[in-house]
Amino acid sequence: MEEIEIIKPDDWHVHFRDGEVLNTVVPETTRHFARAIIMPNLVPPILKGVDAVKYKKKIQRAIPKSDRFLPLMTIYLTENTNKNDIRIAYESGQVFAAKLYPAGATTNSDSGVKDINKIMPVLETMSEIGMPLLIHGEVTDKEIDIFDREKVFVDQKLDFICKELPELKITLEHITTKEATAYVNEGNKNLVASITPHHLALSRNAMFVGGIRPHNYCLPILKREIHRKALVEVAVSGNSKFFLGTDTAPHLTSDKESFCGCAGIFNSTYCVSILAQLFENESALHKLENFISKNGAKHYNLKINKEKILITKSNHSLLFKKELDVKKQKIRIFEPDFPVFWTVSG
Ligand code: DOR
Ligand code: ZN
Repeated sequence: MEEIEIIKPDDWHVHFRDGEVLNTVVPETTRHFARAIIMPNLVPPILKGVDAVKYKKKIQRAIPKSDRFLPLMTIYLTENTNKNDIRIAYESGQVFAAKLYPAGATTNSDSGVKDINKIMPVLETMSEIGMPLLIHGEVTDKEIDIFDREKVFVDQKLDFICKELPELKITLEHITTKEATAYVNEGNKNLVASITPHHLALSRNAMFVGGIRPHNYCLPILKREIHRKALVEVAVSGNSKFFLGTDTAPHLTSDKESFCGCAGIFNSTYCVSILAQLFENESALHKLENFISKNGAKHYNLKINKEKILITKSNHSLLFKKELDVKKQKIRIFEPDFPVFWTVSG
């Protein structure tokens, strides 16, 4: 039996939602992760420090007694966000970062930003105080092909923000393309990127295997194999500009398998196992710790975790639990299209 011990990982991009779903999914993250950045795209969104504090309390109540976990809270930027509110929320320790959703880019992003110029004063304040900016990097113009939305965002919007505010700490979240990978790699030192397990595991073919697969639909949408390979290459390289943000995004199965199915893949349950397998398949298990436990903490100026986890390889591939129960409803758990032999054993 093979075993590796690594520093306990963090997840730098999580959706916990609210209510019953929150209570169901929080333990799936806190079982393996020490900290996570919590997304603010609730209905209504988390707009102010006080909203973040209330939401954090709900999350803390849902953490099992056996787990030690720190939720890092975020604020949802709108064109009306006040720069003094942002400063106070950050400096008081209520919030950790702010999230930029281009309006209409994804789930619950309607209150997001249409014109980046309108939030430049807020971004300037964030740059001054060292507050991280998290970006959903896709343009939303209907005439831009859905597979090109990230690349166009990088060229037209991200480049502008980076040039205007080179000191601003920016995470381009859940990157999906070789162009984004190259831009971040070559870009200024304060620009980094997170990558999800599903974008590392799947190419866009996975949405259409013998029919339409709504559980593999997420945003940014899965891309061609050439892009997946570029993501895998930087993830397994150990390059400190790239780290895990799972974008685990629970939706009820009935909302995904519907006339207009929701975007989002719920992946926290087997995330560490899947990544261990992916890294082993690339002969890069020794770099797993950089990607899931070290690189993100470095960017966010946080200490790496003291605790360790043990990951064990067995002779038989893991049998994935298919769903979580939420009252009478279900949430589908992400399963890749390759066998996984690793489990987190302690
Ligand atoms: O697929 C996604 N789902 N992408 C996002 O950016 C948001 C997320 C959600 O909230 O469901
Ligand atoms: Zn997300």
